[in-house]
Amino acid sequence: MSSDAVAIVAERRWAIVVGFIIASLIAIMVFTGVHWAAMPPSRVETVDPRTLHVSGEFVEGNLGTSVAADGKVVTRLVAQQYSFHPQCLLVPAGVPVTFRGTSTDVIHGFNVAGTNANAMLVPGFVATFTTTFRNPGEHVMPCHEYCGTGHEGMWARVKVIPLDEFRSKAGSGERLSCVPR
Ligand code: CUA
Repeated sequence: MSSDAVAIVAERRWAIVVGFIIASLIAIMVFTGVHWAAMPPSRVETVDPRTLHVSGEFVEGNLGTSVAADGKVVTRLVAQQYSFHPQCLLVPAGVPVTFRGTSTDVIHGFNVAGTNANAMLVPGFVATFTTTFRNPGEHVMPCHEYCGTGHEGMWARVKVIPLDEFRSKAGSGERLSCVPR
């Protein structure tokens, strides 16, 4: 083979490699662009972490699960080093449940094992997440954002109960949780 022919073969090989890299980068950009567009960002809602305990939506008496006037199920929680309040969330199966949460101190997060419920809890912001639990059962809900020395001990539970049972408990209008009293 002449040296020209060798050079042409080598150049073609490099052209293929570079073409493949460019095509991969474009594919990644298209995928992430479409993926982000398909995932609506959380609404940006702010809350004052200094007055969380004394006034507003996240006072202790309002934490836990409630049924709004329009029938929507909302569960409210607060994260702080190193626990969630309430420690056990009681929710119904088969209907959408909206989580509303925030943090009093540093960035925490939660995910409900075995489900797609997953959010970050950032002080000053309200995280919202809506999901439907298909079946009754219990899930662990660990903090998944490193938040200090007690991080690995920070977790709560989510107890999913049948809808009828939930409705009969929710009748009184009080905030429900499965924290033993
Ligand atoms: Cu809270 Cu990690």
